[in-house]
Amino acid sequence: MAQQTLTAAVRAGASDAAQRIAKHLSPAVAKSSDFVAERAEGTYIYTTDGQKHLDMAAGIGVVSTGHCHPKVVKAIQDQASQLIHSGQNIFTSNVAQVGLLDRMLKIVPPGLTRLFFANSGSEAVDNAIKVARAHTKRQNIICFENSFHGRTFGAMALTTSKTYYRQGFAPLMPQVVVAPYPYCLHCKVRQAHPEGDSWYKIQPNVAPYDSYTARTCCNAPMESLKWILKQQSAPSETAAIIVEPIMGEGGFLTPPPSFLPTLRKICDEHGIVLIIDEVQAGVARTGKWWGHQHVSGEAMHPDILIFAKGIASGFPFAGLATRDDMFDGLALGTMGGTYGAAPLACATANATLDVIVEENLLENATQRGLQLTEGLVQLADKYPIIDVRGRGLMCAVEFGGHDGSMTASPGVAAAVTKAAGKRNMLLLTAGARESVRFLPPLTVSEGEIAEALSIFGDCLEDVFGISAQQAATA
Ligand SMILES: Cc1ncc(COP(=O)(O)O)c(C=O)c1O
Repeated sequence: MAQQTLTAAVRAGASDAAQRIAKHLSPAVAKSSDFVAERAEGTYIYTTDGQKHLDMAAGIGVVSTGHCHPKVVKAIQDQASQLIHSGQNIFTSNVAQVGLLDRMLKIVPPGLTRLFFANSGSEAVDNAIKVARAHTKRQNIICFENSFHGRTFGAMALTTSKTYYRQGFAPLMPQVVVAPYPYCLHCKVRQAHPEGDSWYKIQPNVAPYDSYTARTCCNAPMESLKWILKQQSAPSETAAIIVEPIMGEGGFLTPPPSFLPTLRKICDEHGIVLIIDEVQAGVARTGKWWGHQHVSGEAMHPDILIFAKGIASGFPFAGLATRDDMFDGLALGTMGGTYGAAPLACATANATLDVIVEENLLENATQRGLQLTEGLVQLADKYPIIDVRGRGLMCAVEFGGHDGSMTASPGVAAAVTKAAGKRNMLLLTAGARESVRFLPPLTVSEGEIAEALSIFGDCLEDVFGISAQQAATA
């Protein structure tokens, strides 16, 4: 069926259109709703059934400037009429990419003056592995529990947030070692605290709440890492440590402030490359250009920084920034790709970065993130929310049990996102435990966050409220 006819059929609710979708698209792609998207604007997305949805997912944190921001749309239209593709192996560069270099060099951490552009986060991760291995002439990569780095063979081997990302695909890329990531809420040392769980308070790590420092991290994950370097991966064989500054898919786990600087120190001590994967936390999402800057300030930088998602407002684009000397070990031709650094993608990224600056979206992410956090903390008084975490507009809640325990019934997070879908709000689960994450466009307004909190409260009532409990016991 021609695309237009199929669209019309879907819009009309024709069951054969739904059947075609079910029959011809890969069934291995998990879908969190059964809507068919048609158009979108700002924080709202419209589906073929005539519904309007408040988008608190933004395509998994991708649509940073809101859906179809006029400046982004215009940049795409203008670029499309000039040059869609040139080829990074054919031309030295293209005009849009030259403009992007100027913009990127203003925002990447100091010293990371070499850039490589790709099309997806996973592809950028794979390239970071190549750079680290070639530079160090070592093989091992240390990643962390709960991490998500992507679905290609390299990135998948570094992904531990859920078994199903790797299930059935072995043998995976070898020489990967997994280290524990700080997850204070379920830390065994914390659980052994003499005051038990009552010692633990919800303590979002955004001002004016008490900072995470108040949690006085026991440093168990760092201790484990030191033993890993003694027992499993000799420093002389460890090429890189790859880490998300806030675990994204793994549940928005936000490490204590000492964590990343300690990693930096360990890497410096042993000549290990520190790769910070900012695919989800980067590009202003957390209220700073890069998620790691909340804890490190000017004090520490990665050797390789990976970006994707929010960099181009939904256009497929990604890349890495690194130091000049990091490419020393790479022969000519070892990096590339047909579509990398495509003019359309670069022009979209240029417009995206301009909008972030012009509309002061770093500040909006901070303020709206705080509003969201405050609202979620209030809901924790009434519903079994045991943690509110993340930074800026990368914000999540984790659910506990009805009985006040730290473990929720399996499936409650999915039940909440399903309830949100019924109430026309798009939300995502995160991690192997029961968490729900909010990733709205960085342009989201105060009114829209208030609307999201109100709908979320209704969803919690649907799932955990008195009527839900009565239904469960009936
Ligand atoms: C932290 C992180 N790294 C890498 C990826 C993979 O990016 P992509 O899906 O563009 O390949 C993701 C995707 O969610 C991510 O969150």
